[in-house]
Amino acid sequence: MKLHVLTLFPEMILQGLAPSIIGRAVEKNILSLEAVNIRDYTLDKHGKVDDYTYGGGAGMLMQAQPVFDAWKAVTGGKRVRTIYLTPQGIPFTQNMAKELAGEEELVFLCGHYEGIDERVLEEVVTDYVSIGDYVLTGGELPAMVMIDAVARLVPGVLGNETSAEDESFHNDLLEYPQYSRPEVWHEKKVPEVLLSGNHAKISKWRLEQSEARTLKFRPDLYEKYREKQHLIKRLSKDKRNNIHMMESLSRGRGEVLYSEGENLIIFDREAATCMMTAENEETARKLSEKLPPETKWVISNQNFVKEVLESLGYGLWGSCSQYLYTAKESLPVRYKEIRSLKTEDVPYVSSRYEHDTEEYIRERIQAGDMYGAFDHGRQIGFVGLHTEGSMGLLYVEEGYRKQGIAESLEAYCVNRCLEKSRTPYGHVMEGNTASEHLQEKLGFYKASRSVYWLSGGKG
Ligand code: 6GU
Repeated sequence: MKLHVLTLFPEMILQGLAPSIIGRAVEKNILSLEAVNIRDYTLDKHGKVDDYTYGGGAGMLMQAQPVFDAWKAVTGGKRVRTIYLTPQGIPFTQNMAKELAGEEELVFLCGHYEGIDERVLEEVVTDYVSIGDYVLTGGELPAMVMIDAVARLVPGVLGNETSAEDESFHNDLLEYPQYSRPEVWHEKKVPEVLLSGNHAKISKWRLEQSEARTLKFRPDLYEKYREKQHLIKRLSKDKRNNIHMMESLSRGRGEVLYSEGENLIIFDREAATCMMTAENEETARKLSEKLPPETKWVISNQNFVKEVLESLGYGLWGSCSQYLYTAKESLPVRYKEIRSLKTEDVPYVSSRYEHDTEEYIRERIQAGDMYGAFDHGRQIGFVGLHTEGSMGLLYVEEGYRKQGIAESLEAYCVNRCLEKSRTPYGHVMEGNTASEHLQEKLGFYKASRSVYWLSGGKG
């Protein structure tokens, strides 16, 4: 990922980030970080970059020319995502960080004095972002805050594979208290349960602690959490048909955009996917107006929702059967040479899997969600999880089919899901009987309703 910061204080950015984990990622060439001095681009012979504001009022304003020329030097005039740090922006959140982490290149524009001439902002800025309701002297600290939050989500930056951390069931809740040695300090003992070795009990205790803290310090978050838990519970009455929505919510990926009785929109921002159910055709029509413009996919298991969306210009990509693995036990994996895929495996997978782009495959592999089968080190097949959580991306090479390798790959994937407390489920294209048989053989249950994947729409 390439990061550029346009600022009057480049040394503040470089020195601020160099000694950190972000600095290490720059050294390892996972990130590039450039701080550009806006003052280097002024045409004023005294190096001036600011002037009085038209209409009067206290303070100076950064002028359009040096800002524009600095921006143009960095981007070549391309429409790169350009973030202006300003207390007038929308509040920065973890969801925003996740979304920005998917970009190849970002420009951060730091203002000073009373701000920047509106006309240059109109031409270069794509996002106005604030880091909270207080006023700072400039955008440098906010830019550093954003860079830290975004960069730690870029695969490889944190070193060890802690990507799963964000999807623990502690999502929406504050962290529980943690303890390290010694066992007794200032006569305070580490809570007994943490020494018990009983992992189920420890998880339960941590969840209770998280809930209590959230209720106390962040009643706003707690309220959202309770609503979500309530919704998950309601959906669990028909788990086979609803597992895609339940998983999206319980993994902390799905945001509830709308929920009123049967009328429901869950949005997975990173997958640009909405999951939608409606009470009837009329409410389906109304709900469809609430789909965010960045939606690429809509999933629904209601035929009339599919038809409403088709009438609005969405294209039906496929009708699938939803399969769900309800057992808690892991599955035997007969084929032994299976492992997680790495970035160097991207070309193999993308050359054999025509349903998705290389960019998508790379993202799935870097998320640690793809597994490959090998024969003496040579890859012969793969399986994986889609961004929104369903199993799929299955392939076995010609000469290796009908030997149980697909079954082993799926079983392996099921086991990894269970380890991460995820419920394995998948979508099988209707009519793919071989795959349906495989799901049943592995102990998956079929949902009564089809799942429709629709693409396009307003975008
Ligand atoms: Cl992004 N900039 C400034 N100057 N002050 C802030 C801020 C940004 N966010 C909160 N306060």
